[in-house]
Amino acid sequence: MISVEQLKAGFDLSRMAGLIDRFGQIGKDPDGGVTRLAFTNKDVEARKVFLKILEKEFSLDIRIDALGNIFARRPGRHRDWPVILTGSHLDSVRNGGRYDGPAGLFSSLEAFRVLDLFDIETDHPFELCLLTAEEPNDFGISTFGSRGMAGIIKKEDVRRLMDERGNDFPSALKAVGGNMEKMDDAVRSPEEIAYFLELHIEQMPFLDSEKRDIGVVEGVTGIFRQTLILTGEADHGGTTPMDRRKDALCAASEIVLKLETAAKEEDGLAVATVGHISVFPNSINITPARVTLDMEIRSFYTDRIRRIRQKLEDRIRETEAFRKIQIERIVTYDSAPVRFSTPVKQAIAEAADRLGLKRRNLISMAGHDAAHLSRITEAGMIFIPCRAGRSHCPEEFTETSSIVKGAQCLLQALLLLDQRKRSDLPYARH
Ligand code: GLV
Ligand code: MN
Ligand code: MN
Repeated sequence: MISVEQLKAGFDLSRMAGLIDRFGQIGKDPDGGVTRLAFTNKDVEARKVFLKILEKEFSLDIRIDALGNIFARRPGRHRDWPVILTGSHLDSVRNGGRYDGPAGLFSSLEAFRVLDLFDIETDHPFELCLLTAEEPNDFGISTFGSRGMAGIIKKEDVRRLMDERGNDFPSALKAVGGNMEKMDDAVRSPEEIAYFLELHIEQMPFLDSEKRDIGVVEGVTGIFRQTLILTGEADHGGTTPMDRRKDALCAASEIVLKLETAAKEEDGLAVATVGHISVFPNSINITPARVTLDMEIRSFYTDRIRRIRQKLEDRIRETEAFRKIQIERIVTYDSAPVRFSTPVKQAIAEAADRLGLKRRNLISMAGHDAAHLSRITEAGMIFIPCRAGRSHCPEEFTETSSIVKGAQCLLQALLLLDQRKRSDLPYARH
């Protein structure tokens, strides 16, 4: 294994800054921030630029699976051993920042560059991955690439999806190199992947405020998402008396506030958001006839999610009865809390210690692809600080030096994992 000094020296701060800056231009919003929603032209453009870097600057075996995930393989001493996988995503939220996703992807990329620089032959093959559609997008699906790999999302779930402009999902997937009909072929088995490790900005304030370099992520929050469609009645906003209305927006307001109260009652150990709402016909002098609410509840504790859901359901029933409004519930995402692999957490902690980086353990209240990949492999995540924990907004910021320290830790952890065979895989038995 290369020495700690060599490993540190292999990373180039200005190249990392250059990558962040270059990709920050793709989908840059006029007032700051980045909008690079999955499957849009900007996402396609960013993927093309990334592919070009892979092709021109590395000699890796590149393939794109039916989910649009990009894999670039670096052979190991044992070509038939399961791969060690590392990477992140390039798509963003609407008017988000430059680091959520790219910081991890470029850390993995630069780690591969250091492996080449020192001509390191690993035991396992290493694979770099760009995962498709990590963030919610116009088709309403997030963590698509990883859920597809884990076999949690199937073609039947996405076949009929359309965005608001009438674009169909199968064509959108084709635009990023995927193929909906072949989604089953992209499901991966635990025998194929030994470990998955992703670096990500923390998106919470702890590392930044405590001046620590590395978060060893214990696990990822559970996330429950539901769309509520409330149907009332459109009427003249001037001539309809207050006691004769079936106002879907007033009903929705009760539900929004109940969700906030129910989450607050969980002592800081749960959160809930209604982040998207649409009103029909959305006119100043017509009582709202239909409201769609997209809501989510998150907690690392399943019983807390269950309790909030129950309180919300009680409120929904009361509102239906009292206001004579119909409310349809559609569950769109239900992901249990995940605990990451102990060997991966140990490798991250040991890597940080070898590099003299300050670390602490954390749980993630953001969702991540690694949570889904943990169903099929030993998965884990490294967090790096971001200023004041701000994220999913233009103010999202991480020092390049923080990314580079994280990337060094990532490479060191990958090399430690490479020394270790997974005891439950067939290759460890001969
Ligand atoms: C992804 O960033 C999420 O937590 O929703
Ligand atoms: Mn995000
Ligand atoms: Mn992310």
